[in-house]
Amino acid sequence: IPVDDFDLVVFGATGDLARRKILPGLYRRFTAGQIPASARIIGAARTEQDDDAFRSDARAAICEFGGAPRDEARIDDFLNLLGYVAIDAKGEGGWSELKSRMRPGTVHAFYFSVAPALFGDIAERLATNGIADAESRVVVEKPFGRDLASARALNETLARHFTEAQIYRIDHYLGKETVQNLMAVRFANILFEPLWNSQYVDHVQITVAETVGVAGRGSYYDKSGAIRDMVQNHMMQLLCLIAMEPPYHFDPDAVRDEKLKVIRALQAVPPADIVRGQYRGADADYLTDAEDPNSRTESYVAMKVCISNWRWQGTPFYLRTGKKLRARTSEIAITFKEPPHSIFDDSGSPRANQLVIRLQPNEGMNLKVMIKEPGPGGMRLVQVPLDMSFADALGSDGADMPDAYERLIMDVIRGNQTLFMRGDEVEAAWAWTDPIIKAWEDGKHRPEPYDPGSSGPEEALRLMHRDNRRWREIRS
Ligand code: BG6
Repeated sequence: IPVDDFDLVVFGATGDLARRKILPGLYRRFTAGQIPASARIIGAARTEQDDDAFRSDARAAICEFGGAPRDEARIDDFLNLLGYVAIDAKGEGGWSELKSRMRPGTVHAFYFSVAPALFGDIAERLATNGIADAESRVVVEKPFGRDLASARALNETLARHFTEAQIYRIDHYLGKETVQNLMAVRFANILFEPLWNSQYVDHVQITVAETVGVAGRGSYYDKSGAIRDMVQNHMMQLLCLIAMEPPYHFDPDAVRDEKLKVIRALQAVPPADIVRGQYRGADADYLTDAEDPNSRTESYVAMKVCISNWRWQGTPFYLRTGKKLRARTSEIAITFKEPPHSIFDDSGSPRANQLVIRLQPNEGMNLKVMIKEPGPGGMRLVQVPLDMSFADALGSDGADMPDAYERLIMDVIRGNQTLFMRGDEVEAAWAWTDPIIKAWEDGKHRPEPYDPGSSGPEEALRLMHRDNRRWREIRS
């Protein structure tokens, strides 16, 4: 469905995110017929250049990151939507020019693809120059703060000029197809929800494993580490979607209210329930990539998280994420309890059912069930997967599916905040994460070393073993 006509201003238009994601993403939505030919996309950044220079940069970015077969004519059509204004975020240069480019009566959206330190300057100039009004939308990126205090300060800065209904905080995990599918699976089927509680679920594992290291972005990453970079935001969102109560409607505030309740019900995590790791090896070494030979920042974290509410009391959620692991895979595995009694003799006891939701790659679901082993061997049981790949089931290879950014930008234009984080949600997530980080920073321990290409540190295995459980294997 095409979106309404819009003027989108991308601050930081010459930056990495704009080149890799925003411009190629907009191009793909344009070729999919979702963006009207009258829409305007205005790049704004410090560099002095004209529209044509920006268009030729955009062309290069689309060719490099746009995927899909290259169609010069379509690229030219798209480039016609683009313009550029050189802006001084902290001064007066460029703002009246920007104002003259905006058309009355269209949707106005401002994408702050810049360092958070500039949010306040840009927001203020948009307001004082009369460029943004009560209908405008602003889009902000992670990192949204590095602790509760800085996140609050950012929220306050934005709130001086925009209402919450105008602010779109991006967590690109919420734009992933299968992440939204979590809600469809839970709330559009009768099968799962009755079992979705601590009476039937033994535990949940959430894994986001990456094969990349941090080389090239060490200076950012080393100040963050896996908890700030992945757990406080992406993994928290996954946990919320799995654990939340059914919202009364698929409506932005109804969904976000339920997520917020989950975050507020998270128990503090004692140090004994967290394992931190750093990849250390001859071929790849975190300390070299981070450019700090003494860094104590984690490139891997595993933790046991408990939720204090009726539904989940007694069902732990185990989270792990890391760089330079064996395979790139993100999945959520729900392990159910074993049947209370086995009626079968001498056949091995029934094993627990497990529902695995694969987020990437090969998005799909897999439900492990017990069946009789085929053949004449008597009543012997065996566990088999009921496996469904969404691509097979839906007859699509996913090539024309919007990626997370594309979907989220279109939602901004549509004015739908369901897949964006609300200010109180972000603050609650930091309020839970802060003490975990502080306890670590105050201590003297170093992260456990792990081999690049492995499943992470040995200690993480023990986190599960001591509860008589085991991690699923990391494999693609
Ligand atoms: C980003 C993190 O937010 O998410 C990166 O900063 C991480 O460190 C990335 O690699 C993972 O995203 P995806 O979509 O590749 O799983």
